[in-house]
Amino acid sequence: MAGSRVPPEIEWHINFDDDVSELDAAYIDALIRLAGRRLKIKPVSILDAPCGNGRLHAYLRAYGYDVYGVDSNRELIGQAKAKHRASQDRYYVGDIRDFDLGRRFDVYLSWFTSLGYFDDNGNIMVMKNAAKHLNKNGIMIVDVANGEANIAYQASNPNAVFYNESGRYVMVERPTLRFVNGVPYQQRDETFYEKRRRNLFFIKKHGLKMLRLYSETDLRNQLAKAGFDTIYSLSGRSFAKFRRDARRIVAVGVKK
Ligand SMILES: C[S@@+](CC[C@H](N)C(=O)[O-])C[C@H]1O[C@@H](n2cnc3c(N)ncnc32)[C@H](O)[C@@H]1O
Repeated sequence: MAGSRVPPEIEWHINFDDDVSELDAAYIDALIRLAGRRLKIKPVSILDAPCGNGRLHAYLRAYGYDVYGVDSNRELIGQAKAKHRASQDRYYVGDIRDFDLGRRFDVYLSWFTSLGYFDDNGNIMVMKNAAKHLNKNGIMIVDVANGEANIAYQASNPNAVFYNESGRYVMVERPTLRFVNGVPYQQRDETFYEKRRRNLFFIKKHGLKMLRLYSETDLRNQLAKAGFDTIYSLSGRSFAKFRRDARRIVAVGVKK
């Protein structure tokens, strides 16, 4: 449709909802305190990368953390600065593989499928760059889809189509399983529409976006290569130990 564009925050999370962000932040705070007690440290600073528009930051700051954010999308960083005026000097445009803030933090947050955009060399680069920005005993928190469950689902539902709505936008997603040199990826074909009354108007299509599908073992191994010991592997947003049928993996690593 001429003149229409999808806002970037809708592109990466169409069901974006403030309640979800508040709950995510409460869970992240609990994970940090849990790991902090185990390591006998009190983490204060958090680097969230990529941070999108900083949807978690007001909540995390209310828990007392000093929060910084990096994202490659200039528009989202602009939104984060506008929304968090008192902390606007804490936001940077950068690539998660190689940005350099020249300082270290207590916690690195890779939240909501923010890992797996590259081949394995690139993904390990992201984790190594995270390690570079952490203090010794710094905590790495990763939240990704559980690749094994995803592969099982796609094998039995090869033609699955997901229809996601947010306000006046609709995203139709057709995921496909692909193996590149034996490594599983979800190929994401996303088409965006704008709703007008009862009609959908095509806006744009993202073909062939690839997302690395991590099993818990793959994730643990790559974190180890980047210098982290995984101290907790949890099922989704819970405190239950990781199970192979979980929808998501939340891993908490410590910088060795
Ligand atoms: C799924 S969103 C998650 C954002 C945030 N962690 C959250 O939970 O709200 C992924 C983000 O990754 C950013 N991104 C994609 N590739 C990137 C890269 N190479 N370097 C930095 N950010 C990147 C996108 O702009 C987007 O904001």
